[in-house]
Amino acid sequence: SITRHYKFNIELKNVTRLCHTKGIITVNGMFPGPRVVTREGDRLVVKVVNHVSNNITIHWHGVRQLQSGWADGPAYITQCPIQTNQTYVYNFTIVGQTGTLWWHAHLSWLRATVYGPLIILPRRNTSYPFAKPYKEIPILFGEWFNADPMAVINQSLLTGAGPNVSDAYTLNGLPGPLYNCSGKDTFKLKVKPGKTYMLRLINAALNEELFFRIANHTLTVVEADAVYVKPFKTSILLISPGQTTNVLLKTKSNPPNATFFMLARPYFTGMGTFDNSTVAGILEYEQTPSTNLKNRPLLKPSLPPINATNIAANFSSKFRSLANSQFPANVPQSVDKKFFFTIGLGSSPCPKNQTCQGPNGTKFAASVNNISMALPTTALLQAHFFGQSNGVYTPDFPTNPLDPFNYTGTPPNNTLVMNGTKAVVLPFNTTVELVLQDTSILGAESHPLHLHGYNFFVVGQGFGNFDPKKDPANFNLVDPVERNTIGIPSGGWVVIRFRADNPGVWLMHCHFDVHLSWGLRMAWIVLDGKLPNQKLLPPPADLPKC
Ligand code: C2O
Repeated sequence: SITRHYKFNIELKNVTRLCHTKGIITVNGMFPGPRVVTREGDRLVVKVVNHVSNNITIHWHGVRQLQSGWADGPAYITQCPIQTNQTYVYNFTIVGQTGTLWWHAHLSWLRATVYGPLIILPRRNTSYPFAKPYKEIPILFGEWFNADPMAVINQSLLTGAGPNVSDAYTLNGLPGPLYNCSGKDTFKLKVKPGKTYMLRLINAALNEELFFRIANHTLTVVEADAVYVKPFKTSILLISPGQTTNVLLKTKSNPPNATFFMLARPYFTGMGTFDNSTVAGILEYEQTPSTNLKNRPLLKPSLPPINATNIAANFSSKFRSLANSQFPANVPQSVDKKFFFTIGLGSSPCPKNQTCQGPNGTKFAASVNNISMALPTTALLQAHFFGQSNGVYTPDFPTNPLDPFNYTGTPPNNTLVMNGTKAVVLPFNTTVELVLQDTSILGAESHPLHLHGYNFFVVGQGFGNFDPKKDPANFNLVDPVERNTIGIPSGGWVVIRFRADNPGVWLMHCHFDVHLSWGLRMAWIVLDGKLPNQKLLPPPADLPKC
């Protein structure tokens, strides 16, 4: 194993999309940001220097951060923000993970422009559990706002209304030819016939789960969230914000007389405020001699209709762990502690002397077990590590909803949520089973739930109300998929299991930034174990102060 050094300069850069030029916050002037490439077992040392007027943090999405929680990155959870002209060095080792992850800013909506791939190759002299692809191509989905994304969310928080939607979805930063004034900003994938390419798909969009499809080509899914899966073929993929998926694309053996659109567009338009436009890239075969490109037809795949929940659920159900001797699935077979969390929208009272444009004159809010998490003014991890929780958080996050109701029947009249900064405290090595139930309050919506510091096993999934008597009989405890982000189906539930073997403070939240900003987040505090390798290490000297 080696140590790999990167330098991230946070700086403004003028970028033009859809004929709008504006200064955006970037890493090293790149949009999307630079590729971080490492191998399993290596140490990453990333020096982040903040040259802009906004505060910032960087999160290494999906990295387990064993004993190194200080490098996880969510603002006010594991660290105070890096202020203007300040520096912070993220220092962590990749343990037991191979595949595609990504990194992004983790404060307000900065990740709209501050994100990039984190590619973890297998250890030297180790191979993939499939034939080595001819080439590997990162494909990052994102969103482009003509306005300043920070202004968009701040406006929503102020007025209580839903935020404006983005102006385009992007593929590797480019909206593609189906948007106005965007034809030249199209991602092109040039391929040779008869080869296998691995596409490293990353959904970095702020607020949209996306369907993805390439015309006339089938994809083989081999990995999700940096864990190998049993390979399966599909023509349509669904990918939620936060998720990553590696797929193999086998090109046709003879160069076809056509080029092919690769398209992505949203799955769900829950609150009626979502945009269902389409981002397009182009798959083009290299040919010798190059025949007349212009005369080749450009083939367009069809995508599922909006809210195609059956297609979405069918796709999600195909993921399985390899669960073999080389890649075992260590699913907790018994459970120390069970939790039932309701996940959904709600509203919070309108402050006096203000008019709010949210539901019935309130402000939109979002919650877990009816608690909308308020961020503290110092970092939870510091408060925990130094035993200074007083006035920062309380360890009484409820195991079950305070007022259970029929989650798929008529929602309760009172949609008000409570604000608080509460955490669940778990002894080291607790095995946890967690039911995540969508409440369907203020409209059923799917929620991509992400857990920091852990992978979890998705042991069950269904629609309607979770039934604690019947549903556990159908849990998959043999080869459930292991990941860090899972879509809670609209009007349905997911059950996950994990072992709390990573001490620290770990955020869990909806990876739709709008819901995250509205408070759909909570924290797990995992205590140290007895052995030296079961303890959170002390903070680095340059940890930012609030
Ligand atoms: Cu990808 Cu808490 O985030």
